[in-house]
Amino acid sequence: MMENQEYDTCWLDYKQDSSRNYPVFFSNLVIQEEESPIILAAKEELVNGITAITGMEPRFSTVEVLEPSIILTTLNNRGISNEVDWDQCEGALNDEGYALTAATVNNQNCLLLIGKTDKGLLYATFHLLRLLQTKSDLENVSIVENPVNQLRMLNHWDNMDGSIERGYAGNSIFYKDYQFTKNFKRIKDYARLMASIGINGIAINNVNVHEIESKLITSEYLPDVAEIAGIFRSYGIKTFLSINYASTIQLGGLDTADPLDSRVREWWKEKTAEVYNYIPDFGGYVVKADSEHRPGPFTYNRNHADGSNMLAEALLPFNGVVIWRCFVYNCLQDWRDRETDRARAAYDHFKPLDGQFMDNVILQIKNGPMDFQVREPVSPLFGAMPTTNQIIEFQITQEYTGQQKHLCYLIPQWKEVLDFDTYAKGEGSPVKRIVDGSLYSYKFSGVSAVINVGDDSNWTGHTLAQANLYGYGRLTWNPELSAEDITNEWIIRTFGADEEVLEQVNRMLADSWRIYENYTAPLGVGWMVNPNHHYGPNVDGYEYSVWGTYHYADFQGIGVNRTVTSGTGYTTQYFPENTSLYESLETCPDNLVLFFHHVPYTHQLKSGETVIQHIYNTHFVGVEQVTVLKERWEKLNGRVDKQKYKEVLERLEIQLAHSKEWRDIINTYFYRKSGIADELGRKIY
Ligand code: GCU
Repeated sequence: MMENQEYDTCWLDYKQDSSRNYPVFFSNLVIQEEESPIILAAKEELVNGITAITGMEPRFSTVEVLEPSIILTTLNNRGISNEVDWDQCEGALNDEGYALTAATVNNQNCLLLIGKTDKGLLYATFHLLRLLQTKSDLENVSIVENPVNQLRMLNHWDNMDGSIERGYAGNSIFYKDYQFTKNFKRIKDYARLMASIGINGIAINNVNVHEIESKLITSEYLPDVAEIAGIFRSYGIKTFLSINYASTIQLGGLDTADPLDSRVREWWKEKTAEVYNYIPDFGGYVVKADSEHRPGPFTYNRNHADGSNMLAEALLPFNGVVIWRCFVYNCLQDWRDRETDRARAAYDHFKPLDGQFMDNVILQIKNGPMDFQVREPVSPLFGAMPTTNQIIEFQITQEYTGQQKHLCYLIPQWKEVLDFDTYAKGEGSPVKRIVDGSLYSYKFSGVSAVINVGDDSNWTGHTLAQANLYGYGRLTWNPELSAEDITNEWIIRTFGADEEVLEQVNRMLADSWRIYENYTAPLGVGWMVNPNHHYGPNVDGYEYSVWGTYHYADFQGIGVNRTVTSGTGYTTQYFPENTSLYESLETCPDNLVLFFHHVPYTHQLKSGETVIQHIYNTHFVGVEQVTVLKERWEKLNGRVDKQKYKEVLERLEIQLAHSKEWRDIINTYFYRKSGIADELGRKIY
C-alpha cells in the first residue's frame, strides 16, 4: 500500500528499484499523437510509473526525437522510423493490439510502443510497466500482442443501497445509500487496475435489478452513469448496465413487457436512444430474465430469442449488444421428481433457439451447468449453438469457494474449463476456442466474470484474492498463459521479487483450490452449504433443495444419476465423446463421479479408495493442508508488508477453524448415514 493512501495500489505498486541500470531511453518520453483521453491516461501512467520505479522523471516532448526516448505512436506515424516493418505491424495487430520494439529514430536508440489505436498504446504502456516491475530485459524488446478475446468483461453485482450481492470485500465503490458515491479518485484507480489487465467492459450494477436500479436508465441517474463511463472511457473500458426486463411496466407506464408488442419495442428504442445520448459509446444491456423470480418473456409465452432480439433491435443502431444470461432455471422445481434436473436447464432452454438470435445478442453461459461450485463439469451448452454468439461467465467473487475468508485460487479451475475439449467440431474444440469466437466465427465473443471487489482497503477482502482478479484479466487476454506464469507475475508485482515469498505464495495459491475441494463437498456433488448466504457446511442446507436434497444421500449411497440409461439424461447434452466419458462409471473421472452417478458408499473409485473412505480421507487431509498453508505464510513474517501479513494470517486462522468445522460436519453426517467406520480409526465427531 502506498503511504498516505487509504487503499491498496495492488499490482500497480510502482516501487523504486535501484538494483539495475535502466536504458537511457527511459529519460525521455515522446508522444506525437493527438491527445485523446486514452493517450493522456497512458502518458500519466508512464510518467508516474517510470518515475517511481527508476527514480528519474522522464522529460516529455511532442516534437522531434533528439535523444534516446520511449515513443508512443500509432500506425499513422510511420515516418518516424524506417527500421520498423510497418506493413507487417499493421497486418499483425488487431484494434487493441500493440507492439513494443527497440529501434533507432534520428540515430537515437529508442523504444517504440506501437498501437493500431490509442487503446493499443494504453495496453502497451501497461506492458512496459509490467516488464519494469518484473525486472525483464528492456534492451532487446520485441513484442507483438493482441488480446485473444474480444470482450473482456466484468459484472458487478452492486446494489444502489451500497451492498454487493455475494460481495465479500466491503461495500460498493459506486453506490451508497441509493446515490452514487462520486468517489471518482477510487473509480479512476479501479479503472487503471482493470485496464492494466486488459478489461474492456464493465457492467456496474447487479443482474438482479431492483426497483431503484431499474432507474439507472432514466434521466435521474444517467448523468451519474455517464460520469463513470467517462472515467472508464479514458482507460478503454465500455460501460454496461444490467436492466430489468419489465422496465416498460416499471418505468414506462405500460401494462406489458411482451417483446412482440409494438409499444414495448418502441419504448425500448426511445429509451436506448436516450441512454446513448448520455453515453455515446455505451456497451449495452446485461439481462437476467426468467430465473430466480426475475421477470422475462415467459410471462407472455415468448422465448428468450424473442426477449433478447427486442432489446437487440433497440441497440443495433448504436452498435450496442445484449448480453443475455443463460442462468435460467426453475428454482422451485420439485427435486423428488427425478426427471427434473437443474443441470439440464440452460441447454434445454437455449439450444433449440440456435439461429434465432440477432447478431448483436450474446449468450452469457456460466462455466458449469449449476452455479460456480468448487467442482462441476463444463456446461454442455458451449459449442452446441454454432450460429449464436457465446461468452463464458466465471465467478471471481468466491460465493461457493470460501467467500474470500478461505484461500481459493481459481485460475487453475478456469484453465481446466477453458481447455476442456467439447468435441463440438471433433477433437480439438476446446471451450477457449468457442468463446474466443474462432471455432464458429462468432461476431461477438469473449469472457465475463462476477467481480470480487468492494471498498475494503485491499479491494478484495483477502489480499491473496487479488490474484484471482489479476489472473482473470491476464487469462482472458491470453488463455494460453500458464497458471504458474500468471501467479509469479502477480506475486512479484504485489510483493516484490523476494525468492522466499515467490516460492511460498506460489505454492499456497497453486494448492489452494484442491485443498478447498478436499474439505468441502466431495467428488463433484456440490452445495452442502448453509442456506441463502452459502457460507459454511450444511449437508442438506441449500435453500433450493427444500423438496429433497441436491445430493440424494441415503443410508446406502450418494450422488445424482444423470445418465441417459437410468437417470436424468443430462449426459446426452454433451457431444458423443463426452457423453460416453460421463455416462459410464468406468470412465467417469473420480472428481465428478457423484455429479453424474448415484453410487453406494462402498463403490471403489479409480484411486482405489471407496467413496466413503475418500470422503473421510480428503476431509482429514484438507485440514492438514490448511495448516501447511498457514505455516508457509508464517515463514514470510518480516518479508512482506506488515499489514498485509497480519490480514492474511487472520484469514488463514479463520480458514483453519472453518475447515475443521467442514471436516467434522461432513464426516459425521456420512458416518451416521452410512454406518461405515473410518478404516484408519480416526475420531469422527
Ligand atoms: C447464484 C447467486 C445469486 C445470483 C445468481 C445469478 O444463484 O447465489 O446471488 O443472483 O447466482 O447468477 O444470477
